[in-house]
Amino acid sequence: MDAIRLNGVGYTYEDGAQALRDVNLQIRAGEKVALVGPNGAGKSTLLHIMSALHLPTEGKLELMEEEITKRVAEKARLGVGFLFQDPDDQIFMPRVWDDVAFGPVNMKLPPEEVKRRVEEAMAQAGIAGYEERLPHHLSFGEKKRVAIAGILAMRPQVLLLDEPTANLDPQGRRDLVNVLMPLRDKTMVIATHDLSVALELTDRVIVLKRSVLYDGSFRGLVERPDILSDARLELPSVPRLMERWMERAGRTGPLPLTIDEALAMLEDRNE
Ligand SMILES: Nc1ncnc2c1ncn2[C@@H]1O[C@H](COP(=O)(O)OP(=O)(O)O)[C@@H](O)[C@H]1O
Ligand SMILES: [Mg+2]
Repeated sequence: MDAIRLNGVGYTYEDGAQALRDVNLQIRAGEKVALVGPNGAGKSTLLHIMSALHLPTEGKLELMEEEITKRVAEKARLGVGFLFQDPDDQIFMPRVWDDVAFGPVNMKLPPEEVKRRVEEAMAQAGIAGYEERLPHHLSFGEKKRVAIAGILAMRPQVLLLDEPTANLDPQGRRDLVNVLMPLRDKTMVIATHDLSVALELTDRVIVLKRSVLYDGSFRGLVERPDILSDARLELPSVPRLMERWMERAGRTGPLPLTIDEALAMLEDRNE
């Protein structure tokens, strides 16, 4: 089943700025996709459409194979968890517990079920024990995890993450990857400039610059320097290093993308 389907989608803001043009995409349920592209490419706009927060100004959006119109948008939003780039746009309750519980309470779930979901979501997001903390006193990385817990507590099938690692320190970035990694059953779309995170968490890359420039594997993208430079992307340091090394050592073959692949080549082993 396709979780998200866009057919000829365009989006023009009220001031006339055209953010998206003729976007055609199908994302299967359970698929993990990275959405990359330069600043202003339309990534956030596309996530707003995929979450039914904005309706396309042209073309058609389907979520879970249902066409999204104004009439069904509100209901459709419940199936989609959207992690905003800035957690301060998402966290507004005075206590962490209430913030994580906000979604389930709104869904009118019985109190025991709310409690169960909040506990589970907080454990998944690595913030068990933060129940009584004040969100505005937390670090940026902690706030991000409170926001993730709030989303997980609603148990959406689809997770949309807008630059989830931006402004996190290296440990915060690692913690976030560790939170997202086990969520294998969810459909995930991650807008990011961070190709190493994308490589770790996703199996498909969509390069966006108002419309789709590339849609395929990382392996395929690595062989398209034209697209990398057009989208102002930089390969992670492992493949960049290996590219130089292979050139010097006169080696051919597929470019190692991960540390393990690089080691295998350096130690002259076959995968
Ligand atoms: N609320 C808005 N009103 C008008 N134009 C906007 C608005 N939000 C974004 N845009 C414009 O839409 C384009 C895409 O923006 P955005 O989706 O935020 O890109 P990205 O997330 O890839 O940086 C940009 O040219 C931006 O200026
Ligand atoms: Mg953005």
